[in-house]
This record gives sequence, C-alpha cells and structure tokens, in this order.
Amino acid sequence: MLRARGLRVRYGEREALAGVDLVLRPGEWLALLGPNGSGKSTLLLALLGLLRFEGEVWVEGRPLLGLSSWERGRLLAYLPQNGPVPEGLRVREVVALGRLPHQGLFGRWTEEDEAALRFALASTGAEALAERELTTLSGGERQRVFLARALAARPRYLLLDEPTNHLDLDHQARLLALLRRLSREGIGILSVFHDPNHARAADRTLLLVGGRVRAEGALPTLVDELLRVYPGAEAYPTPKGPVVLPGWEEA
Ligand SMILES: Nc1ncnc2c1ncn2[C@@H]1O[C@H](COP(=O)(O)OP(=O)(O)OP(=O)(O)O)[C@@H](O)[C@H]1O
Ligand SMILES: [Mg+2]
Repeated sequence: MLRARGLRVRYGEREALAGVDLVLRPGEWLALLGPNGSGKSTLLLALLGLLRFEGEVWVEGRPLLGLSSWERGRLLAYLPQNGPVPEGLRVREVVALGRLPHQGLFGRWTEEDEAALRFALASTGAEALAERELTTLSGGERQRVFLARALAARPRYLLLDEPTNHLDLDHQARLLALLRRLSREGIGILSVFHDPNHARAADRTLLLVGGRVRAEGALPTLVDELLRVYPGAEAYPTPKGPVVLPGWEEA
C-alpha cells in the first residue's frame, strides 16, 4: 500500500499542498483531477520523495525516506508532466533506462531486462519506434516512449502525470485500457488527468483544489462538485453515465 498522511509542501511563501491524506492499494487505480496549479504534480513529486515535504509517506509499510533510491525506483515508477528529452539516444536506450533500479552499480543486461523492455514497447505500441532517435519523434510518440520507460521498471506503483497529453483519441483509449489491465494485474496506479472523462476509467477519483482534497469518490458522484470547480464546464447524461465537456458560450 502507498499511504500519505498530512502531506504539506511549500515553495517559499506559497503553500502548494496543505495537508493531503491518500491511500493507494495494489490493484487500485486512483485518478487525480484538479485545476491548474492545484498541486497535482507536487503531490506526485512528494510521493516519489523528489521534493521536501512535511508529513508522512509509507510504501508497503515502510517510510519512504528510509528506502534507498534503488528500492524506491523498483517500487515506484514515474511519468513526469514535462520531463527532459535526452538527446542522442534511441528509443530502445531511453526505455532501457527504466531498468536502472533493477541493475545495481555493475548490472548486466539480463533476459528479465530484455523481457521488460519488450513488454514496455509492446504495451505502448512503440516497437516500430525502437531504433528511432528520441528527438526525431512527434509529441505523442515521445509521450508513449516515456510511458514505456516507466512500464519497463515493472513497478508496484505507477505515478503518471497527465499520461494522455499529446495522445490522439485512439491512443488515449488504448492507454486507458492498458491502465485498466495493469491495475487488474495488481499494480497500483495514480494518474493525473485534466479530462474528467478519462477519470471514469479509474476506480476512484480525488479532486484536488488549492492543495487540499476537495472531494473523493467514483467519477459520476463528483460531477456536481466538478461543475462548481470548473465554471466553464457542462455535464451531459449519456448511456455510459455523465460526461463533462467544456462549454463555449461567447464571452
Ligand atoms: N518549483 C516551484 N517553485 C515555486 N512554485 C512552484 C514550483 N512548482 C510549482 N509551484 C507552484 O505550486 C502550485 C502547484 O503546482 P503544481 O505544479 O503542483 O500544480 P498542478 O496541479 O500540477 O498544475 P497543472 O495542472 O498546471 O500541471 C502552483 O501554484 C505553482 O505555481
Ligand atoms: Mg501538473
């Protein structure tokens, strides 16, 4: 279980997280929604131990800060919202970086590493890109490669910051189906979305506003609150439940 209690993060004077509690169980998919600047990326960074926070985080019952970076890397994999784009590397090499936490200092590339690499490339439909140089790929192709790098770690928990960014509708659907499958196989997933309709695929949604949890539950139960938080949004009933879309009343 990944568990946080009383998480607080300050950037100088600005309080980005103001006491967040969170539980993510293996096999559970939790979606994180919230306006720009509400603290979603900060929450992921704190859960990964990548910035200073007050409060407590435990992974599998052990304090996060007591784990080595290798152990953290094997338990938690991360897709950043705006990660650096390494130059001069082929896709295969970028995805292979996801295996580092398993390799140790003098690690050899094993059969297990190769299998994880193949799994990651296949799951993201990136096999045909494997020999391309990363910097030559389109935005959506790059996003799938970064997702593959996170999957290659075969972590217990996946923390994904806006994984649908840059993806076309078909690749968005494939990603949601992949995350459903991975969670059924026992991986705990925490994924940031902006589109509430993506969060419908998750088991549970947490709505973060101003660094605090405003509401939590299955997406359909949060629709009224979403309309209060996003005044420009509109909800429509459909046979698959309510969908939330941006309106476009002329200003
Ligand atoms: N390095 C930083 N230094 C100072 N302030 C920061 C820093 N990073 C984030 N902030 C501020 O902290 C708040 C939360 O930022 P965060 O990136 O967590 O928001 P977010 O919910 O991920 O937003 P978005 O939807 O735009 O990605 C914002 O007000 C942001 O301006
Ligand atoms: Mg963010």
